[in-house]
Amino acid sequence: MADIIGCVTTSHVPAIAKAIARGQQDEPYWKPWFDGFEPVHRWLARAKPDVAVVVYNDHGLNFFLDTLPTFAVGAAPEYRSADEGWNIPTVRPFPGDQPLSWHIINSVVAADFDVTMCQQMVVDHAVCNPMALLWPGGGEWPVRIVPVEINTVQFPFPSAARCYEFGAAIGRAVAAYPEDLRVVVIGTGGLSHQLDGERAGFINKEFDRKFMATLIEDPTWAAQFSTMELMEQAGTQGIELILWLTARATLGAVRQVAATYHVPISNTAAGMMLLEPAA
Ligand code: DHB
Ligand code: FE
Repeated sequence: MADIIGCVTTSHVPAIAKAIARGQQDEPYWKPWFDGFEPVHRWLARAKPDVAVVVYNDHGLNFFLDTLPTFAVGAAPEYRSADEGWNIPTVRPFPGDQPLSWHIINSVVAADFDVTMCQQMVVDHAVCNPMALLWPGGGEWPVRIVPVEINTVQFPFPSAARCYEFGAAIGRAVAAYPEDLRVVVIGTGGLSHQLDGERAGFINKEFDRKFMATLIEDPTWAAQFSTMELMEQAGTQGIELILWLTARATLGAVRQVAATYHVPISNTAAGMMLLEPAA
């Protein structure tokens, strides 16, 4: 049977890709952030996942304001990146896992999550940057991916509680997949940030810390808040923390393997957590 061996949540700020392209990982400003991933690299080398289910938000590359699904799941043979206007390099294509994609789609639709099915899909910095952070250094990607996209771009957004249930449904789907696969779930975005408007630059360290702590022991804590309450606490783009929540909800009890919090990267309080199932 397939097994979710862990969950990695990380910010996806475009500036990360610029730092990678310029080889700035060891510069004083960037070093703590990139060093934070060393335990993740060691864990991945041991855990050897076959597939990454990547819970992310498209920022206007594949979907635009004219046609915007609430939940979408990729079922493509591969996923390419493309120019988004951030002046960051495109990355080598990610191989898909179509049988697992269709299994997840069938399972979550049966559980009343009526997702949009995408047999072709380009992926933006919200997929590419976390993948480059987890598997730096180029060469073939060592995992296939199943992209799971959630709208955080145009109102109305799905509630945190609904995202939590969606994540739990994905977790049950993977656990019921008959093939022996090692699956890592990645949740991208966050933590607190606001890129525009009167509160541009808003960061809430206290809320981020509480969110990270509860993600381990009490993940339904964040699910109690409305979209507006979350945006008030975490900034308008901080709503991306629903992607962390969805990824976390694929697992039951967890323990933390590693975490980092680096403030700010660009306008964002950048965080990373690696969680694995509690023994
Ligand atoms: C930034 C953060 C994001 O999450 C994003 O998608 C784009 C930009 C930023 O802080 O610059
Ligand atoms: Fe973002």
